[in-house]
Amino acid sequence: MSWLCWRRWELNQDSDFGQVKSFEARLWRAFFHFCYTRTMTFPFIEQEDPEIFAALVGEEQRQAEGLELIPSENYVSRAVKEASASSLTNKYSEGYPGKRYYGGQEYTDQVETLAIDRAKTLFGAAYANVQPLSGANANIAMYMALLEPGDTVLGMDLSHGGHLTHGHPVTYLTKMFNFVRYQMKNVETGEIDYEEMRRTAKEVRPKIILAGFSAYPRELDYAKFVAIAREVGAVAVMDIAHIAGLIAGKAAKNPFDAGFDIMTSTTHKTLRGPRGGLILVRESEELAKKIDKAVFPGLQGGPHMHQIAAKAVSFREALAPSFAAYAKQIIANTKAMERVYSEHGARMITGGSDNHLILLDVWTSFGISGGEAEKLLDRAGITLNKNTIADDTRKPMDPSGIRFGTPAMTTRGFGTTESARVAESMIEVLTKRDDATVERAKQEVKNLALAHPIPESFV
Ligand SMILES: Cc1ncc(COP(=O)(O)O)c(C=O)c1O
Repeated sequence: MSWLCWRRWELNQDSDFGQVKSFEARLWRAFFHFCYTRTMTFPFIEQEDPEIFAALVGEEQRQAEGLELIPSENYVSRAVKEASASSLTNKYSEGYPGKRYYGGQEYTDQVETLAIDRAKTLFGAAYANVQPLSGANANIAMYMALLEPGDTVLGMDLSHGGHLTHGHPVTYLTKMFNFVRYQMKNVETGEIDYEEMRRTAKEVRPKIILAGFSAYPRELDYAKFVAIAREVGAVAVMDIAHIAGLIAGKAAKNPFDAGFDIMTSTTHKTLRGPRGGLILVRESEELAKKIDKAVFPGLQGGPHMHQIAAKAVSFREALAPSFAAYAKQIIANTKAMERVYSEHGARMITGGSDNHLILLDVWTSFGISGGEAEKLLDRAGITLNKNTIADDTRKPMDPSGIRFGTPAMTTRGFGTTESARVAESMIEVLTKRDDATVERAKQEVKNLALAHPIPESFV
């Protein structure tokens, strides 16, 4: 199938605004369409809903043909997809294993119990709730479990890497709770200002000290967070959504080892599971009970059992030794890209990366905005996103930075050499910006991707 995808990609080069020029290309395209659609796993959709079928085939192709550098995206295994598409989607299972509000729960109980046990083993937790429908829901349930309206949360400044659900003014969360910020002390090294955090914590007495991020490339000093939380009587919570796979693969430190009380997460991103959320509690039964009550009935209705089965499958995959190798390779690949940018004197926020992502200040380094860089690289077949950088002087819709990472391309089998070449191509495009350079980079990206198609077990 991968070969067919690439043949299709090549044919697209022989077209002009979608009009296929040569007879040979037209013949190939018809052949491709026949073969490709035979290999698709949507035969019933094809028959019953051609419009959705066309969109699904298009998306499959898009994912196969481009180079995915958005750090929160990945390719899930076929086994995970099978579970997601299973008949568990038909089942209502409000409640928890052994305590449901509907009958017929013999198999759903097995599935959810397996997911819980595997999550606990993977992250060294005493308790796990696998029902949150997404990372945002996991965070909202965690707030509801721990806070009363008006209570204070001390979280990472959003322009310094925190997530929307950590108290962005556009969210309803800020109408209910009081979010106070800590920041990096030095944007060039990424060091958090722990002294200032401690002073603020003593002043505002937060109920939660929240660590975690969407756009921060360094490892945090977890022990310092926990010490401050203990000093002011707050619960120490880490949102590990972005780095859950690195922690599971033991390529990054586990915040529980430093005494964090709770971790919230997505199950997609580096963890390479289905879209969904997860809440882990290190040891407190009291906290675990509050979390369970907040998820259901506090926030959600029936759990999505098909996704919980898919989570269980992905947790099993993450427990395998090959996943540890994958997690290490993600970091090695990021480091390889970091070296290239350093050599070219490009400015990375925090000076580089210890995890799966890099935040590049393209405004200072290349004199173009994040939005322009995103579009240019898109033309070269590289998908990533514009991103605000710490203390950005530009607007969020066209900020100074781009954010990108290595989880998806590492799943494709890219190593450090290929990652460095991608970084070189990016720099060339961002520096020269002419059509010929974009075209050259596109060819280079295509050759790299062709040599590393999405593995069959992930297609
Ligand atoms: C740190 C962090 N927390 C929570 C979320 C929310 O996850 P979801 O998109 O599944 O709601 C994200 C998503 O990007 C994230 O980066």
